[in-house]
Amino acid sequence: CGIVGYTGLDVAKNILVDGLKRLEYRGYDSAGVALERVAPNGSTSIDVIRRVGKVAGLESELAAVDADATCGIGHTRWATHGRPSVANAHPHTSCDGRIAIVHNGIIENFAELREALQARGHHFASETDTEVFAHLIEEAYDGHGGREGAHDLLTAVREACTQVVGAYGLAAMCADEPGVIVVARKDSPIVIGRGERGSYVASDVIALIEATRDVVVLEDGQFARLTPEGISYTDAEGAAIEPVVTHIEWDIDMAEKGGYPDFMMKEIFEQPRVVRDTLVGRMVGGELSIDELGLTMEELNLIDRVYVIACGTSYHAGLIAKNLIEAWARIPCEVEAASEFRYRNPIITPSTLVVAVSQSGETADTLAAIRDARIKGAKVFGITNVVGSPVARESDGVIYTKANKEIAVASTKSFIGQVVSLTLLALLLAQVKGKLTTGQVRMLFREIGDTAEQIQHILDTQEQAIHEAACACVDAQSALFVGRGMGAAIAHEGALKLKEISYLHAEAYAAGEMKHGPIALIDPGFPVIAVATRSPVYDKTVSNLKECEARGAKIIVVATEGDADITEIADHVIYIPVVRDAFSPITATVPLQLLAREVAIMRGCDVDQPRNLAKSVTVE
Ligand code: G6P
Repeated sequence: CGIVGYTGLDVAKNILVDGLKRLEYRGYDSAGVALERVAPNGSTSIDVIRRVGKVAGLESELAAVDADATCGIGHTRWATHGRPSVANAHPHTSCDGRIAIVHNGIIENFAELREALQARGHHFASETDTEVFAHLIEEAYDGHGGREGAHDLLTAVREACTQVVGAYGLAAMCADEPGVIVVARKDSPIVIGRGERGSYVASDVIALIEATRDVVVLEDGQFARLTPEGISYTDAEGAAIEPVVTHIEWDIDMAEKGGYPDFMMKEIFEQPRVVRDTLVGRMVGGELSIDELGLTMEELNLIDRVYVIACGTSYHAGLIAKNLIEAWARIPCEVEAASEFRYRNPIITPSTLVVAVSQSGETADTLAAIRDARIKGAKVFGITNVVGSPVARESDGVIYTKANKEIAVASTKSFIGQVVSLTLLALLLAQVKGKLTTGQVRMLFREIGDTAEQIQHILDTQEQAIHEAACACVDAQSALFVGRGMGAAIAHEGALKLKEISYLHAEAYAAGEMKHGPIALIDPGFPVIAVATRSPVYDKTVSNLKECEARGAKIIVVATEGDADITEIADHVIYIPVVRDAFSPITATVPLQLLAREVAIMRGCDVDQPRNLAKSVTVE
C-alpha cells in the first residue's frame, strides 16, 4: 500500500495523484484521496473520492471534480483485510466524516476495538482494520463517555495510537483544522519532506523526490504535524523533537527499488517483515487461529488425505508442507504439480483436503486443478498473496500470505510467506488431530517468529561468503543442489532460482540418490551446493558430500553456525543460525536466493526479468 499527503500553496489533487502513480508499482487494487473543501460561507468539510482499479481511473474521476483544495491525503491499496472494493478503499472516515485517514500496516487488535466501538454506537462502512483508527481518533477528538475531547488532531491521533496494537504508518486530517495533516508511525515506513511550496508526506521517498530530496524518516513512536508553513515533530509524550534530515541521492529508478540495485534484492531483504506480518493475528488468546479456513474443527478432524497442488516455486513450498503435515499431523500428504494433477485421476473423497498454493492466485493450471478437485468433492484451501484473486474466490477457504506485491519474476518473499502459512496449517491440523498440544503449538509458533531475526542475521552477515561461493559457480556449465529431508526440498528451490535467473543449468537431488546417477556428472571443479544444516540426517548428508569431494567437486555448503567440521570438506560455507529442522526452509532458502542472484549478476543477467519467464502464467 502507499500513502501520500500534501498541504501547501498548490492544488493538492494533482500532487496526490502524481505521488500515488509513483507508488503504484508496489501493487494496487484501489485508490482514493481525501480533500479539504471550503464552502462559500467559510465552513469546512472533507470530500473522499475512491475508485477500484488503477490510479489512472481515480485521476480521470478527479479531473472532472472541481477541487481546488490545497490540503489532502491519498492512498493506493493492496488488500490485506477485506476484499478490493470502494468501501474498503482508503481514505476511511469517522462517523460524521470530519476526520479522514489513510493507513498502511496491520492492526492486530482491530476485532476487539471494532466491537467496543460498535457498542458505543459507532457504525462501520468497511471490512478493513483501518477504519477503527478513524473512529478512535474521532472519540479522542470529540470526547466520549464523560471524557473531555482533545479538540486537537495531533493529541487525538496520539491518544488513538495508545489503543492500537500492531503496525501503522498513518496520515490524518480533520475538517475542523484546515491545512493540517497529522502523521504517526510504528513499524511501517513514513517519510516527510518540506518543499518550497508546501509540506509533503509519503510512505516511500519515491513519492517525494520531485518536491524535495531532503527528507525526514519518521521513527517509531514519533508524530509529525504538517501545515502549509512548516512541520513540527513530537514524541509519544508530546515533547518536541529535532528531526534528522537525510539527503536522498537516488534517482527515481533506484528509489523505486528502495535503494537496492534490483527488485529481487529488495524483496529478499523484505523477508523478515513477511514472516512477522504472516504471523500477525494468528495467535489469539493463546490459540492458533486461522478462521478464514471455512471449515469447522469437526470437518478438519475428518481429513484423512492432503494434496498440495501448485506450480514452480509454490510447488516447492508444497514439498516442505508435506514434510510438516506428515510429521506433525500424521496425515498422508502428496505434493503434485497442478499441471499433472488435473490430468490424472487422483484419489479424492469428501475427506480429502486439497491445498492450492499460488502467489499470483491466477495460475491457469492451479485454477483448473482446483475446479477439478471441487467437482470430485474435495475441500479446497487456497494459499495466495493476492486478495480476491481467482484462487481465493474459488477455494472453500483461503490463507493470505502477507508478502505484498512481488515484482521480480523469480519468487522470493512470496515463497517465504507460503512456507510460513503452510507451517501454520500443518500446526493447526496437528492440533485438531490431537497430535500436538496447544502448549506445543504455542512454543513452535514462537519459534517460527524467531526466524524473522535469523533471516535478518543472514542478510547482515553472509554477503561476503555468498559472493565467494558465487565466484565458484559463475563459470560452471551446470550445478547440483543436494540435501536430505527438509534440505532436499530447500535444494529444489535453490536450483530453480539459479536456473531461472542465471540460465546456468542446475538440478536438485536428494543427496542419497547421487550415487545412483548424478555422481557420474562430477569432474574436478563441478559445483555441488549442499544444504547440510544440523538435522537428524546431517551425518548422512556429509557422507554423501564426501563422495562428491573424492571426485573433485567444488563444494558449497549452507551449514549451521558453530559447525566448524564442515570446513574439512567444504570449499565455501554459508552459515545460518541454529534453527529447528522443521523451520530450516524459512532461513536456509535465503542464502540460496542470494547465491542465485549473485551468480546471475556476475553473468550479466537481468535478475528481475529473466528471459522467457512470466510472473503469472494464465495460459495452460
Ligand atoms: C511462474 C513464475 C514462478 C512461479 C510460478 C507459479 O512460473 O515465474 O515464479 O513460482 O509461475 O506461480 P504462482 O503465482 O501460481 O505461485
